[in-house]
Amino acid sequence: MKFYPTVNVLRNEKKELLKCLNSKNWSSFKGSLKESDYKNVLGLSSLSAGKLKDLEIRFLGGKYVRRLESNVAKQFKVKYCVSSNSATSCLHMALASLNVGPGDEVLVPSMSFNSTATSVLYVNAVPKFVEVKKDTFCIDPVDMKKKITNKTKAIIVVHLGGNSAEMDKILSISKKLKIPVIEDAAQAPGCRFKKKYLGTIGDIGILSLTETKNITSGEGGLLLTNNENYARRSRLVRNHGEGVILENLKKTDYENIIGMNYRLTELQSVIAIEQFARLKKVNMVRKKNSEYLINGLKKFNKILIPQKIENNTEYYPYILKFLWRGNHILNKKTLIKKLNMAGIPFTGGYERMMHENPIFSKMIAYKNGCPYFCSKNKKISKKYGKGTLPISERINKDFIWFKFIHPPNKKIQMDYIISNFKKILGDI
Ligand SMILES: Cc1ncc(COP(=O)(O)O)c(C=O)c1O
Repeated sequence: MKFYPTVNVLRNEKKELLKCLNSKNWSSFKGSLKESDYKNVLGLSSLSAGKLKDLEIRFLGGKYVRRLESNVAKQFKVKYCVSSNSATSCLHMALASLNVGPGDEVLVPSMSFNSTATSVLYVNAVPKFVEVKKDTFCIDPVDMKKKITNKTKAIIVVHLGGNSAEMDKILSISKKLKIPVIEDAAQAPGCRFKKKYLGTIGDIGILSLTETKNITSGEGGLLLTNNENYARRSRLVRNHGEGVILENLKKTDYENIIGMNYRLTELQSVIAIEQFARLKKVNMVRKKNSEYLINGLKKFNKILIPQKIENNTEYYPYILKFLWRGNHILNKKTLIKKLNMAGIPFTGGYERMMHENPIFSKMIAYKNGCPYFCSKNKKISKKYGKGTLPISERINKDFIWFKFIHPPNKKIQMDYIISNFKKILGDI
């Protein structure tokens, strides 16, 4: 049985890409910024920036970058969309926008991809890891609340696998304490909670366009916000902002903004525009395949437990996640091996949880113990490593994942998986 990868080149992409190639503007960004631009341009909504002439304000990128941002802002019903070369860059831009820095803690669920937490180190703050809920695998608001201190400067929630975190509870806690929330929606483009797109409910949201994700431009990321100040600061970080910071700005305008080159190219933007136009269609196939597969495996649902979807969530899965609780019948490693031998690419969860990663467990990031033991961070209580988050560790130990639910995979692939599970597990 053949399982197909996510990347699939279509006619529109080829046509537009060729136009862009021939235009010879492959990245129209310029790093220079005039005082008048700072005042009048940096805070322009993405819709207004999309209406500028092709090469008018190059600090905000070329026509395809701005068209992408304008389209996504419209599609996701948000004022600002700031693209970059990855979701990781967007996480950094988000934390810098919120002015997170030395002496600050950021709450992060350990169950995620590494950069959700390493991005906190980029701004010299430290992450504090939080447990996830046993059934939804998204951040547990109860543990989150317990871990808030007067040093907590931001909370990152992760909408794992397309499932929504419990946003009502999270926001009721964070709003009361005035702690901003970043939504890492890298794995959840187009998913909604109470009809609002994930990534647009908190203060800042981020999406990923890396090659494994629901839609892709090879690499790429998008930051979403309704806050003008966060949009300005993100746009500065993305494009060498510190190199052009103007003498007479207030300190708070440029504090904690180290300008990078996080710019998305015009070529990638062309692809991303077409991919977003197709998002709904692609997501519907993911939903259909995964529902069919879960239903076909229902017979085993005492030992093969699918991720519980949070109430009020419109869910389009990224990687299908199950807990394998059938070790008394067949251990997880053997099950995966048997499936793989039949040509079915199931895998076994994260290599390790983030809090077990040596960059945290050994507290070694920058030289001289920074940021963990640098001046202001010295007083922060930090506890990392195996055993500190037993719920997340147990879930990861039991995880089995399947990712090929995207088009052009369809019923025939799902039927093949179901029949192989039946063959392997027999009549239990
Ligand atoms: C939850 C989560 N956050 C962040 C990222 C980073 O995305 P990117 O590869 O675009 O930097 C990923 C990518 O795998 C992810 O799954």
